[in-house]
Amino acid sequence: MNLSFDHKVALVTGAGSGIGLVTAKAFADGGASVALVDANENAIRAATEELVSAGHKALAVRCDVADEAQVPAMVEQTISTFGRLDAAFNNAGVMSPAVETADADGEDYDRLISINLRGVWNCMKYGLRRMRMQESGVIVNCSSMAALSVSWVERSTMHPSTV
Ligand SMILES: NC(=O)c1ccc[n+]([C@@H]2O[C@H](COP(=O)([O-])OP(=O)(O)OC[C@H]3O[C@@H](n4cnc5c(N)ncnc54)[C@H](O)[C@@H]3O)[C@@H](O)[C@H]2O)c1
Repeated sequence: MNLSFDHKVALVTGAGSGIGLVTAKAFADGGASVALVDANENAIRAATEELVSAGHKALAVRCDVADEAQVPAMVEQTISTFGRLDAAFNNAGVMSPAVETADADGEDYDRLISINLRGVWNCMKYGLRRMRMQESGVIVNCSSMAALSVSWVERSTMHPSTV
């Protein structure tokens, strides 16, 4: 597998920790210029400083992906710094408490949908505007097995006679 991203520009949301952080580092190791995007500014500043000290091209951009007003500015900051956008990994996401729907809190549900669905849609929308203009680019959206198995979780926690 060719993992060279020389002269490419990548944007990773949720880059402050976990999967997003290791992906941002992998892009940088592969030669890409990387925008590390997260709502947690301290986390991305620290990670970006570490990458820049190691000789990589990295930029920290604070953005709440659930807020559509913040997303175009985040994409624009990436492009004004690095000149283009070749890859976007839309990875920022949250978990809601693992409870049955019957016991769930509506505010937790709204938060999850606003980040995991609307946030991804916001990032796709503004990433695609740039990629359409360039006539190139790749987007990968991070999901979860949980997106496919909620009804299984619900069923598995019910009494066998009810499923
Ligand atoms: N870890 C797993 O086992 C697992 C499994 C399946 C799917 N996922 C998915 O992978 C993605 C990353 O998971 P992770 O385990 O690395 O999580 P994580 O909690 O370590 O990292 C998520 C990052 O997203 C950021 N974030 C949260 N809300 C944000 C917002 N509104 N705007 C911008 N940034 C925001 C957080 O600050 C955090 O840095 C998530 O979408 C998660 O649902 C994770």
